Amino acid sequence: MKILQINSSARSTGAASTRIADSLAARLAGRYPGATLDVLDLAREPVAALDDVAVAARMAAPDARTPEQAARAAQDDALIRQFLAADVIVIGAPMYNFNISAHLKNWIDAIVRPGVTFRYTEVGPVGLVSGKTVHIALTRGGVYRGTSADIPVQYLTQVFAFIGITDVRFVYAEGMSRGPDMVDKAFRDADAQIAQLVA
Ligand SMILES: Cc1cc2nc3c(=O)[nH]c(=O)nc-3n(C[C@H](O)[C@H](O)[C@H](O)COP(=O)(O)O)c2cc1C
Repeated sequence: MKILQINSSARSTGAASTRIADSLAARLAGRYPGATLDVLDLAREPVAALDDVAVAARMAAPDARTPEQAARAAQDDALIRQFLAADVIVIGAPMYNFNISAHLKNWIDAIVRPGVTFRYTEVGPVGLVSGKTVHIALTRGGVYRGTSADIPVQYLTQVFAFIGITDVRFVYAEGMSRGPDMVDKAFRDADAQIAQLVA
């Protein structure tokens, strides 16, 4: 089994979401002997935001791209190949201003590609990715689980379903801005959720 771990905190060291994603990936690797782990840390290897070149590259046929568009498409192609090669994806996802980080959004914008991970049909868009599970370690300063303010959960559920992945599981570490006792409790709670998830 191939595991892809994506760290999406802005912090390349000391991130709570990375710590929990590490635990999740290690537990999954232990559960499936022979599993391989590929780690993409978006703070160290950021994906560029969409721009004129990236959008034009998405819309142009491969042989009609300018050299600049072809270079940008190649970067996104590599991310898509890495994503499609994985059986299980583990994502560390902090909440920033009520949403996911720009780092994670840029990665999603790269891998959600028409004709590759979804396609348009006469009855609407259809996801082209199947057979994958996504585990997401959520960290946030406040407490939002089960409320309408939990935008990262709504968004990530929606966008993965859009490309065909409906098996999306969440581990919550909440209240990280409420003092050291709450932080300790959040990590303990996350460990318990991981143990249950990867039994
Ligand atoms: C720029 C920024 C924005 C944040 N916005 C929110 C927010 O909207 N809601 C919240 O509960 N916590 C917010 N937080 C707190 C983080 O979600 C929390 O510290 C989390 O544990 C960070 O995860 P990390 O250590 O993996 O980066 C914010 C933190 C930063 C740095």
